[in-house]
Amino acid sequence: MREGLTFTNEAAAAGYEGAFAHVSSHFVPFLLRAAQVAPGMRVLDIAAGTGLVTSAAAEAVGSSGHVTAADISAAMVGKARERLGNLSNVLFAVEDGQAMGFPNQNFEAVLCGLGLMFFPDAARALQSSIAS
Ligand SMILES: C[S@@+](CC[C@H](N)C(=O)[O-])C[C@H]1O[C@@H](n2cnc3c(N)ncnc32)[C@H](O)[C@@H]1O
Repeated sequence: MREGLTFTNEAAAAGYEGAFAHVSSHFVPFLLRAAQVAPGMRVLDIAAGTGLVTSAAAEAVGSSGHVTAADISAAMVGKARERLGNLSNVLFAVEDGQAMGFPNQNFEAVLCGLGLMFFPDAARALQSSIAS
């Protein structure tokens, strides 16, 4: 992963809400609209971070839908679980967006909020999400 563009360590996860979340939160409604996230859908949120996009997606899909929040950083996934672990329609996974391991699951939408630019090979990441 590129030096200085990681967001993957404990400190980044702990400080994300106070430092960067207000920027990413602006994009969430546009992202959900572009992906046409609707009630009942199965959604993957890759590079989920602390779960900003995940929580909005979970609300949009409702109790008949489902969101998997995945991130390469165990610290970020831990933070997301801490914040959203009470939601019954959300699962959490530590996954590299360039080589995802969801062989028995399919998703109707894949969301990635301010994450793709951190992947060294964005084309591979997009290919991986199509295969999921
Ligand atoms: C700026 S944060 C965005 C978090 C969240 N999507 C949001 O909108 O608030 C970027 C996230 O990308 C994750 N990330 C970076 N490279 C990744 C990869 N190869 N696979 C999965 N997640 C990755 C980082 O761990 C970090 O949580």
